[in-house]
Amino acid sequence: MGRITLHGVTKNFGDTEVIRPLDLEIEDGEFVVFVGPSGCGKSTLLRLIAGLEDVTAGRIEIDGVDATGVPPAKRGLAMVFQSYALYPHMSVRKNIAFPMRMAGLDKAEQNRRIESAAAALNLTDYLDRRPGQLSGGQRQRVAIGRAIVREPAAFLFDEPLSNLDAALRVGMRMEISELHTRLKTTMVYVTHDQVEAMTMADKIVVLQHGVIEQVGSPLDLYREPRNLFVAGFIGSPKMNLMTGEEAERRQAATMGIRPEHITASPTEGLWQGTVGVSEHLGSDTFFHVHLDGRADPVTVRAGGEVSLHHGDMIYLTPDESRIHRFDAQGMRLA
Ligand SMILES: Nc1ncnc2c1ncn2[C@@H]1O[C@H](COP(=O)(O)OP(=O)(O)O)[C@@H](O)[C@H]1O
Ligand SMILES: [Mg+2]
Repeated sequence: MGRITLHGVTKNFGDTEVIRPLDLEIEDGEFVVFVGPSGCGKSTLLRLIAGLEDVTAGRIEIDGVDATGVPPAKRGLAMVFQSYALYPHMSVRKNIAFPMRMAGLDKAEQNRRIESAAAALNLTDYLDRRPGQLSGGQRQRVAIGRAIVREPAAFLFDEPLSNLDAALRVGMRMEISELHTRLKTTMVYVTHDQVEAMTMADKIVVLQHGVIEQVGSPLDLYREPRNLFVAGFIGSPKMNLMTGEEAERRQAATMGIRPEHITASPTEGLWQGTVGVSEHLGSDTFFHVHLDGRADPVTVRAGGEVSLHHGDMIYLTPDESRIHRFDAQGMRLA
């Protein structure tokens, strides 16, 4: 079991409120991602759950039992960090076994769990190596192995892939998702990368300045961001946001339209502009279009092999059914 409930959890460092009173329900078996810009309090929130920091106020329950004052080792949770913190002089096997040795588990049970974790993580052939003889991705898998053998109620990951290069990150992302499918154990995962959040999460918690801006499934947040912050944060490239006349004719202070919800044409459309920077990705092209009288270019997604060039005339038409409207406070209008 791994149900985690936060009631009014608050954290101050001196005079600084890092986590504002916050409520959150993490269901057993759920993959929950905390996402937000650097410094918004993601790691602090995870460390409060882990017990590595004490709450200033509020209560944390694990499976319905108050865990607020319980020391980290007794919470039944396992944390995986960005820095793998492996023992360089120990073999992979010994690194993975370490928490079980500390807990005094018998040798046969230790071996059973090591074999099983190694199989799940494709580390079987590497058990006798030392961390220095492994790639970054393999080292991170060893760190995850060390968490798995503890058979925790939940895994807590703090930016575990940030030290890996881009290609490896994509691979590890899928491995962790597969691991979650297989183990069905609660995972709480911190990242500043909205693509990681979108691809891995059952439930995303968007944080800014220690406040939860929105909680929902990736598609909930994509379809119905509840404010301008979430609208700008979720989705890549970012949602186009426009104020002034275009927003006003749709009875909003700000209107938003995603690049993939605009049609581009060389001959006709609602908005006329000129092509600025183009990003050719092969599968898609992103055109940054300068509209008359607007400072910020509008980004539009077009087909991969559309041939339009810098300075060419282009016409854009937003899909009216996909326009997001926000009030003067930046909150979503129905
Ligand atoms: N031990 C600490 N003492 C004082 N301030 C801290 C401490 N840990 C974190 N902070 C501050 O709390 C805020 C949130 O930090 P953190 O949770 O690490 O953010 P994130 O993980 O989202 O980047 C930051 O402003 C950071 O400087
Ligand atoms: Mg952090």
